[in-house]
Amino acid sequence: MKHFLEIDDLSREEILEVLELSSAASPPKVLSDSTVGLVFEKPSLRTRNSCESAVFQLGGLPVSMVAGEVGIDQRESAEDVARTLASYHQYIGARVFAHSTLIRMAAAVDSIGADAGIINLLSDRAHPCQALADLATIRSHFGLKDGLKVAFIGDSNNVARSLSIGCLTMGLEVSVASPKRYWFSESERRALKEIGNISFSSDPAEAASGADVVYTDVWTSMGQEVEREERLQDFHGFTVDANLMACAGDDAIVMHCLPAHEGEEISRDVLESPASVVWEQAQNRMHVMRGLFLFMNGVRPRS
Ligand code: CP
Ligand code: NVA
Repeated sequence: MKHFLEIDDLSREEILEVLELSSAASPPKVLSDSTVGLVFEKPSLRTRNSCESAVFQLGGLPVSMVAGEVGIDQRESAEDVARTLASYHQYIGARVFAHSTLIRMAAAVDSIGADAGIINLLSDRAHPCQALADLATIRSHFGLKDGLKVAFIGDSNNVARSLSIGCLTMGLEVSVASPKRYWFSESERRALKEIGNISFSSDPAEAASGADVVYTDVWTSMGQEVEREERLQDFHGFTVDANLMACAGDDAIVMHCLPAHEGEEISRDVLESPASVVWEQAQNRMHVMRGLFLFMNGVRPRS
């Protein structure tokens, strides 16, 4: 795997290897004398900090750039940005609005035979580094056991998509509850069903019933701000609160990629409850980035 644009760029076995490498003590400094370019078209707290920390821990230097100073497709094309960054950096992490931008960047790097791998740090379509951290978190609580049920309540968005693909790939059961107009498309639902056991509904209580993991994310993602008022109305009744958690399994955990919008997709008491593992999840962002860089550098766990 040269580029990491969606979680299914890794097979089930490879995901397990990345997770194993994420917890390796004294990992080799595979990035020593290397730099990693990190470009952000949208704000970030966890992704930027976890990536920068992981690069440093592996001996490398992260070079972060934010929206205005790069101007992808404004100051110059995404292709020219990618080819330029590839001449300095071993990896290029990018947080972009359109997923197609990442595909163009990867193609541009490949077209000049450069080695730099493109890593998706969130696009409108996918958030695979988040999904790795989510799987690491679920694994630390339950193990990635066949039949474990993960309920996603809210918008069928980038985070929901990568989480669903990742969980299904690992043999977990997934139930997604969104208002009907925010469901994944029919062709996508069909494709997800081909990976594993996933169900779709418009009833949060039904989706959360007996779940081991209840996961939510914002109703209005970055780039959708003009829809905010409409979405607040459409998602009424989809808040993960104590009533909804009562439908889940007795030992259920609550997950959220963060940032959280208190009182919208999640209530403060649930976010702060003993069931909430959101801070562990946030820290796992850094551990899995280390695991991912190790894996992409050809390191494999000792069997
Ligand atoms: N979960 C996540 O990606 O957080 P940031 O947007 O703060 O990076
Ligand atoms: N779905 C959210 C995730 C933020 C980490 C967004 O795209 O804004």
